[in-house]
Amino acid sequence: MKLHTPRSRALGMHLILMLVTCLLASQVLLAHEGVLSPTESATPWGGDYFPNTLLTDQDGQQVHFFDDLIKDKVVVINFIFTSCSDSCPLETARLRQVQKLLGDRVGKDIFFYSISIDPLSDTPEVLKAYAQRFKVGPGWKFLTGEFADVTDLRKKLGLFIEGVDNGRSKDHNLSLIVGNQTTGRWMKASPFENPWILADQLANTLQNWKQPSVEESYANAPEIRPPSNGEELFRTRCASCHSLGPLDGQGIGMRSIGPDLIGVTRQRDPAWLSRWIREPDRMLAEKDPIALELYERFEKIPMPNLRLDENAAQAIIGFLQEETDRQQTLAVQTP
Ligand code: HEC
Repeated sequence: MKLHTPRSRALGMHLILMLVTCLLASQVLLAHEGVLSPTESATPWGGDYFPNTLLTDQDGQQVHFFDDLIKDKVVVINFIFTSCSDSCPLETARLRQVQKLLGDRVGKDIFFYSISIDPLSDTPEVLKAYAQRFKVGPGWKFLTGEFADVTDLRKKLGLFIEGVDNGRSKDHNLSLIVGNQTTGRWMKASPFENPWILADQLANTLQNWKQPSVEESYANAPEIRPPSNGEELFRTRCASCHSLGPLDGQGIGMRSIGPDLIGVTRQRDPAWLSRWIREPDRMLAEKDPIALELYERFEKIPMPNLRLDENAAQAIIGFLQEETDRQQTLAVQTP
């Protein structure tokens, strides 16, 4: 498949580098020393920098942010709320794929934390039900705490944007942070990132700073056609929850969160499909019969509104159609 191409990988790494550079430049996150002098064993980003916030996990167990969650660990942290209908389910779905790729290292040397920014609604019970609906594996804690403490934590992690986060209380900053507390190396990551790249960062890049980065040679790689706009959108916005045909699943081999989308362009009315991709939340609220039926069938995980416009929706539909035609032709050729 063309999913995990050297090109997309290189692109992804490039993006991450850009992100890191931006962060350093704007000093949103952590100052230079921690990142540039990895040989110092003591980083400035220890217990003096990070608060030891008291949080409660989905099993009702109390933990301290610094001592119990991040100290000497490689971690992924994101902030969510369970009633969120756009970015959070996308992040959860993406991290679920990354967790699957990392296998049993999660909970051993890599830890996942999703912290609620809506502690009033997100009790441990609510978080537990959310984790179960997404079928997340062990080593991934869903946490809640005092609102002010959690806000403080977000600021310390550079995942709080003044203005955006203050005004509309639930329109929170869409990002994850991955890091290694011991080395002081922290980077923002995007939930749109290819799951293989996120997994590679956690499993390799962040684990041992001194390990030289191995430059892969792409001299013998087959020539890759550039993805269309529709394909790019599909891979980054939709593929964390939807497969395309029986051989898809980004090679991860896990049950998708939403329905497989091969053939959907033939099955559904074009206007219905376009509107669904743009505003599934409104169609569900209006009790559209197909929307209701799908919602019940897929664990009551609502498809998120990803704020796409008509052009983007059409580009994606075009790609879904092409991919359906392509797979059908293949099937005919190889009986
Ligand atoms: C967080 C997971 C998630 C993401 C991301 C997501 N979807 Fe969905 N999608 C679902 C779920 C779950 C359903 C089933 C309906 C429901 O439960 O609301 C669904 C249903 C659909 C359906 C209806 C299928 C049918 O049989 O008619 C289409 C089409 C669809 N999604 C397209 C997309 C496209 C295109 C994107 C990217 C722009 C996308 N989805 C992103 C979870 C997701």
